[in-house]
Amino acid sequence: MKVALLYNQKPDLPENTPKYQSDEFAEWDNPETIDAVANALRERCDVVKIDCNPAYLQQIITTLLEEKPDICFNITEGIGEPSREAQIPALLDMMRLRYTASDPATLCLALDKARTKEILSYYQIPTPHFRVIHSLSEGMVFLNEHHQFPLIVKPLHEGSSKGIFERSVVYSVEELSRQLREVIEQYKQPALVEQFLSGREFTVALIGNGETLEVLPIIELLFDHLPKDSRKIYSYEAKWLWDDPENPVEVFKCPAPISKELADEIASLCKRAFRALRCRDWARIDVRLNEHGKPFIIEINPLPGILPNPDEHSCFPLAARTAGIDFNALINRVLDEALKRYNLAI
Ligand SMILES: Nc1ncnc2c1ncn2[C@@H]1O[C@H](COP(=O)(O)OP(=O)(O)O)[C@@H](O)[C@H]1O
Ligand SMILES: [Mg+2]
Repeated sequence: MKVALLYNQKPDLPENTPKYQSDEFAEWDNPETIDAVANALRERCDVVKIDCNPAYLQQIITTLLEEKPDICFNITEGIGEPSREAQIPALLDMMRLRYTASDPATLCLALDKARTKEILSYYQIPTPHFRVIHSLSEGMVFLNEHHQFPLIVKPLHEGSSKGIFERSVVYSVEELSRQLREVIEQYKQPALVEQFLSGREFTVALIGNGETLEVLPIIELLFDHLPKDSRKIYSYEAKWLWDDPENPVEVFKCPAPISKELADEIASLCKRAFRALRCRDWARIDVRLNEHGKPFIIEINPLPGILPNPDEHSCFPLAARTAGIDFNALINRVLDEALKRYNLAI
């Protein structure tokens, strides 16, 4: 079987560029991740690697036409627009090629956190109350409404904690106004204002489809190592500045130390969310508890990050390892789930 591995490789940036300054490419993969996925696929398949940088668009299409892969393993993040993760899958649909993971509709939805929440709400799957503010003038009217602080203000279309800082959790109209302005002016996109949930946080890896959809061991995000007065959130600071590989701290606990009842409730919530969004093959879902310990869905990641090095704090591979599935087995499992979906087998 021939598999095309489709990816976006991070461009070479000048030496000493701090991690947090390479923002535009934050979600693109490094060569170690790409090689690790390729090596895993090579255990059973012929692998063609295709760098899907938009600068090589013609080359991407030519290679796909010439190689005629049986299936593509898609980890492309795309560029720019809220459609970015759907760009390559839409091209693959047009070329009638098979691929792993979700289709363009789901990938676009997941990059619009409010649209995702609207669908969850339709299915009565708990998600924090929210409003989308598109412009500063709409913000002015909104500021005069009644608010139950604290709230959290996030860019509508980002990931990897981009645009989510300590200051994004707001306690007053003044702070709310400041953050609305920051998101709308600096991130040039609508702001999602959400009820802030003060409880514990979890992230949940799911693999499969239909009746055999499987929930891997739940991960708890720990905030004990954050500075004493910090907000207990997985902010940009927490992800990129305070998690220093030179000075490792425990940021995740897997399996999460929670009761079986809570674990079952979270697992069932995440399965419902996976199905409501029509995710395929795999996804990672963020969950947070309110002050009464009730779980809510925060967001859905249909293209989960997968850093192969256990020291790099990557959630999906950690959940898989905890279930006894090593990195290579994880990648091959995702491939098998996609093949099953297409009624194919190696
Ligand atoms: N409604 C909320 N209540 C409490 N914390 C939140 C809420 N929304 C987001 N957060 C915090 O911010 C982090 C990043 O938000 P998230 O929507 O998952 O963005 P990203 O796409 O960057 O992962 C979450 O992991 C969580 O710690
Ligand atoms: Mg998240």
